[in-house]
Amino acid sequence: MCGIIGYTGTRDVAPLLVRGLRRLEYRGYDSAGIAVASHMRFEVRKEVGRVADLERSVEDGLEGISGIAHTRWATHGGVTRENAHPHLDNEGRIVVVHNGIIENMAPLKTRLIAEGAIFRSETDSEILAHLIAHFYHGYGSFGDSIIPDIAGDPVAAVKMALSRVRGTWGVAVMFLDHPGMIIAARNGSPLVIGIGDGETFIASDPHALVPYTRRVMFMADGELARLTVDGVETWRLDGGTKTSSIETLEEEWGDGEQGDFPHFMLKEIHDQPEALRQCISGRVLVEDGTAKLGGLDLSPRELVDIQRVTLLGCGTSYNACLVGAYAIEQLARIPATAEIASEYRYRNPVVDPRGLHFAVSQSGETADTLGAVKEIQRKGGAVMGAVNVVGSSIARTCGRGVYLHSGPEMAVASTKAYSNMVAALCLFTLQLARTTHLSAHAGREFAEHLQAIPGLVEQYLANPGPIDDAVRWVCDSKITFFLGRGVSASVAAEGALKLMEVSYVPSIAYPSGEMKHGPIALLEKGSPVICIVPNDPLKAKTASNVQECRARGARIIMVHTAGDPIAELADVAIPVPETLEWFSPLLTVLPLQLLAYKAGLALGRDIDRPRNLAKSVTVE
Ligand code: M6R
Repeated sequence: MCGIIGYTGTRDVAPLLVRGLRRLEYRGYDSAGIAVASHMRFEVRKEVGRVADLERSVEDGLEGISGIAHTRWATHGGVTRENAHPHLDNEGRIVVVHNGIIENMAPLKTRLIAEGAIFRSETDSEILAHLIAHFYHGYGSFGDSIIPDIAGDPVAAVKMALSRVRGTWGVAVMFLDHPGMIIAARNGSPLVIGIGDGETFIASDPHALVPYTRRVMFMADGELARLTVDGVETWRLDGGTKTSSIETLEEEWGDGEQGDFPHFMLKEIHDQPEALRQCISGRVLVEDGTAKLGGLDLSPRELVDIQRVTLLGCGTSYNACLVGAYAIEQLARIPATAEIASEYRYRNPVVDPRGLHFAVSQSGETADTLGAVKEIQRKGGAVMGAVNVVGSSIARTCGRGVYLHSGPEMAVASTKAYSNMVAALCLFTLQLARTTHLSAHAGREFAEHLQAIPGLVEQYLANPGPIDDAVRWVCDSKITFFLGRGVSASVAAEGALKLMEVSYVPSIAYPSGEMKHGPIALLEKGSPVICIVPNDPLKAKTASNVQECRARGARIIMVHTAGDPIAELADVAIPVPETLEWFSPLLTVLPLQLLAYKAGLALGRDIDRPRNLAKSVTVE
């Protein structure tokens, strides 16, 4: 969702900010804007659409060495140039970019207008520019409390304004009186400070900073910072003393560049063998038939005491949770469930203190998943992160967990992160099951098969089968069905989600046995039904459901284990290599990812940035 980049130093700031915005594009946005302190005024440019459009509008030269910029994903107010950030106060002397939501916008706006504020947008964010101006210009108390005279003090003005708003913010503010200074504050929307040599950066995401510096400070909620060329000073808004410290970003595996691939999504599909190696390597102990996830920091004693496992995520991450829960329950014989984080956090869940929770997230910033983590912690539960982005809010809030090591995932549609979530949860399953009752022999078999997965993924991607035939049918259909049983039911869900988000083809996923309880009414002659039927104990059951669809004239596209005669039931059969039941999602999902990609391509969709979607969903 929205992205922030800011800079103060000695470089030509406009190209630097545009480059930063480009590196934030993957988060999803619909407009972009930039403000540069230039010749005693703020030069502001905004565009609806792509950062490339904004880049053209700054080509005439925006001279300056400090500025802030923003990509906006609309919440309050439509997608218009006026609503794009940055926003200015009446006099154009204070400029603001903001991520998050100001919940008490209405009363604040009424009061500010009564005092003479002129609003030029419909956004909640513009409130901040006027409110900060109110205190900075020393207009006295706001409401009924008496406030000290803080006129002319940027830090005090921002602090005072933030004490009057309710909601979430990652905010960067500049004052024309102090053109080399940026004030930043965080509450619920991530911000990271980058520290260079005689230059300082602020961004909502470290990805925007890595071309310039790896020395960073992740701001914590409730923190405020003053950035200048000389470095950074931080405070807590509540007056407390503990503030963030400087860290060095680890070298990420993968560079987040597109390479020779036409789209990030296709590149990331093909990244999967290497991404899986990065996730598994060093964590599988074949000789002992177990796995070791050091970041969990759980002793065998603590592992055997676990009474229940709850996996939480949203979207694709939830689909990965379904696979994990299935594997844990089957193999470790411990009750395990997957939960949609946005539902879980608000249903006053019963949190078992003897249970273990995992928050599963690529970005580590999903507001709903983070909200669920906090709710579990409030109720005394233990929650680990299974997160891709190092240093992200969920990783930091959990404190313990497992990093996915997928490398940067830039396409909105998640592919390699899904696979690494499944792999990481399989590693945990092995570690847990081996501690409880799995024999060394069975553990070794599990470990060997898991280690073989990256090679099998590579083998499949080299020869993906007749995907194009399936694409034609899917693109011509009103609706596409995805069916699977057991662990494959969750792969069906992931296949349908992927197809919808990338191609906008209406898609519906059901556990195969549920089809006849309702959705079969939608079947028409020629409807494409994508059946995920690997060689597992439930195969024969799914085969019956396939027959039921065939009998009604459906076109069967089947993802099956290579060499299995079940393929005879299919109109289009897509074989994948054989593996154990628990790992089959890592192979059966591949044709579904390619199908979604190719359908999106055939229909002319914006593959890497589908409409209305964001990579990092930081609002609930
Ligand atoms: O960053 P997260 O894994 O927490 O994101 C969760 C979902 O927003 C995400 O998986 C979404 O469903 C993807 N666009 C799916 O491809």
